[in-house]
Amino acid sequence: MVFYRGRGNLARMAALNANDLNLPKGIQSSRELPDPELGAIWDSIIIDEAVKSQLLSQAVLNFTVRAKVQRSVLPLHGVIFLVGSPGTGKTSLARGLAHRTAESFKNAKFRLLEVEPHMLTSSAMGKTQRAVSELFSQAIAEAALMGPTIVLLDEVETLAADRSKMSLEANPIDIHRATDAVLVQLDVLAEQHHHLLFVATSNFPQAVDTAFTSRCDLVVEIPLPNKEACGRILKDCLTGLAKTYPPISKLLSSPKFDHCVNECVGLDGRAIRKLVANALASSPQTAMKPEHVTIEDLLAAARAAKVVRNKGGK
Ligand SMILES: Nc1ncnc2c1ncn2[C@@H]1O[C@H](COP(=O)(O)OP(=O)(O)OP(=O)(O)O)[C@@H](O)[C@H]1O
Ligand SMILES: [Mg+2]
Repeated sequence: MVFYRGRGNLARMAALNANDLNLPKGIQSSRELPDPELGAIWDSIIIDEAVKSQLLSQAVLNFTVRAKVQRSVLPLHGVIFLVGSPGTGKTSLARGLAHRTAESFKNAKFRLLEVEPHMLTSSAMGKTQRAVSELFSQAIAEAALMGPTIVLLDEVETLAADRSKMSLEANPIDIHRATDAVLVQLDVLAEQHHHLLFVATSNFPQAVDTAFTSRCDLVVEIPLPNKEACGRILKDCLTGLAKTYPPISKLLSSPKFDHCVNECVGLDGRAIRKLVANALASSPQTAMKPEHVTIEDLLAAARAAKVVRNKGGK
């Protein structure tokens, strides 16, 4: 069961008890693990298997070793950091990793908390620091006392901004203190809670404080998909659509499919999935009957996406 702040439909809300509705400030959602929905997300991300294996191994190690080995021997903080361009699958991998980690420990009840950093940042002086401290020292620490906990810190540059690069705009002292608070709290939690893992993401790693990065047990760069991966993402997307619109599967065997894949090279996974949607919307008629989409529609959408990407890169 997943509890969302401010998003649930009425039936779901009615099924929850008052405590669950009352998620602490800064926590966007809380869900029990394992959760097959997140397993499907993990499977949907097409990336070198070695990357997935490295992530899973590090996450599992976090829950096997930290309670048994002194920090003076292995100074683990319980933080995995995923960096990379927008749309490369970092958040999806982080959520999927939470599921796969929980699944690796039979009979253990894990929980995934997702932090929404923008809920914590406040223009009022000192409030961000207080909100950050409370989130870590109360909400996250309490969850860790209840059982193994994985915390997704998406867009961590918002919370752990590089203190050396702050300008005088945008209340820098407050943000400076918020970064200090994150670092202090990570140290405290690392000492006190061994069954806790943070998975942080950022597409601005250069904006993240180096003291935060230094505390990470593993930093992994999630790359843009290579040609083979682009082909698999496109295929996965079309195969998924063909479950609803069977004629779409014909596109996969078209001689022009490979041209489409070539046009996808340089795009991120999100852009590839979106260009398929653009192809389905190539005309009002196709939008009405998506099974009529042609390989030319797909090729045109891929070329258009590439043009947009190239312009954005200049
Ligand atoms: N390597 C990939 N394989 C398959 N799908 C992908 C891949 N990368 C991204 N996607 C798809 O793109 C969408 C966005 O992914 P996600 O939100 O995880 O990216 P992100 O790296 O967190 O982006 P951002 O940095 O903008 O937050 C998802 O629907 C995901 O399935
Ligand atoms: Mg993301």
